Amino acid sequence: MPNQKKLWKTNKLICGDNLEEVAKLSKESVDLIYIDPPFFSHKQYEVVFGDEAEVRSFKDRWEGGVEHYISWLRPRVQAMYEVLKPTGSFYIHCDWHANAHIRIMLDEIFGGENFRNEIVWCYERAHPAYKMFKRLHDTIFFYSKSDTWIFNMPRVPFKDGSWQRKSFKRPDGKIWEQKLKGKACPDWWIDIPSFATRMSAKERTGYPTQKPEKLLERIIKASSNKGDLVADFFCGCGTTIAVAQQLERKWIGIDISPTAIKVIQRRLKEFEGVIEGVNYIVVGMPTTVKDVRKLEPFEFQNWVVIDKMRATASRKKVGDMGLDGYYPKGHLFVHGGAGIQVKQSDKVGRNVVDNFETALKRADYKKGYIVAFSFTTGAYEEVARIKNKGELEIKLITVEELLTKKKPIV
Ligand SMILES: C[S@@+](CC[C@H](N)C(=O)[O-])C[C@H]1O[C@@H](n2cnc3c(N)ncnc32)[C@H](O)[C@@H]1O
Repeated sequence: MPNQKKLWKTNKLICGDNLEEVAKLSKESVDLIYIDPPFFSHKQYEVVFGDEAEVRSFKDRWEGGVEHYISWLRPRVQAMYEVLKPTGSFYIHCDWHANAHIRIMLDEIFGGENFRNEIVWCYERAHPAYKMFKRLHDTIFFYSKSDTWIFNMPRVPFKDGSWQRKSFKRPDGKIWEQKLKGKACPDWWIDIPSFATRMSAKERTGYPTQKPEKLLERIIKASSNKGDLVADFFCGCGTTIAVAQQLERKWIGIDISPTAIKVIQRRLKEFEGVIEGVNYIVVGMPTTVKDVRKLEPFEFQNWVVIDKMRATASRKKVGDMGLDGYYPKGHLFVHGGAGIQVKQSDKVGRNVVDNFETALKRADYKKGYIVAFSFTTGAYEEVARIKNKGELEIKLITVEELLTKKKPIV
């Protein structure tokens, strides 16, 4: 084992927009970049995590068409190009939605001569296709920054599944002894299943669009060596980070979602005591009211409900008149359970309290919490009026209070 402390001194988990965060990194410092940006898929991902029923989602909507998407992606990839070492490699994971456009953009940034591979990752999953072929592959473009780059050829089994072929007949009739283990890896990968067929896989975090560790293992082993710096600037639930850590690489992960960063921290915690050197710093998590104002609505919901109130987020979209979170009826500290509503706004008034009262009654809760940046006097009066009736208790909590936690929240 290398000197872990020294090796991993620089590991960083950064919560923020990669456009700003990548620009803060040293130029030509990274050996390998893998990114898996949102796919221009017009989907709002929403997934429920394990037992805790945490709602996860992230935005993948591009109202302005593919040009808008590329104009969003281009400056980010340009910034990534700047931080890549001259011997570095860049992989971008995409699919049919935008891969043609991404390829053109990459040729412009890296130079067409530095295009190395279009990797086709094939998998099985349900795809409702009736008048066309099923779309069952992703594309991973691989570019080097120059004509000199690190490449450790991965080896894969032969067609018959065997790794060792003793001998084979050449076209001239001579028998040739095969010395290598398996064969050199082609640019089509059919041996790495997606999570669609492995729903109960141990490594599965429940994060939408999580990629398999085997996929990242192949890329990281091929395009970096032990001690090299590997970066994922759209790191999601941290697949690249988890694999880089296990393969003794240094790493940097950036994601705009505080929930993603929390999932990665949880994932890395599982390594503690199992592998050495899990040392890293976390920067950019929301710590001020200004930071919290900038969160996407679903991130705000998760930040309030899951992170700060340690409650359960509701399995529904943000913004309706129901409950955004709850403490279940059998909760250890919140007896009888409670409902939570979050409002990412100021001067939340009487009408919100009234609607919340109705929602609480519907869910048969006697207690509830509304979280917002500030409330009107009318809201506080309404809360007092409801309390006087003796049926329900509603508490108004400001984001400032959540951040400072000067008094107990629940
Ligand atoms: C397709 S997912 C990545 C999944 C990841 N490969 C994994 O295995 O978990 C894309 C990620 O990009 C993040 N993201 C979107 N826009 C971003 C930005 N401007 N800066 C940093 N991260 C961003 C999202 O929060 C999401 O976690």
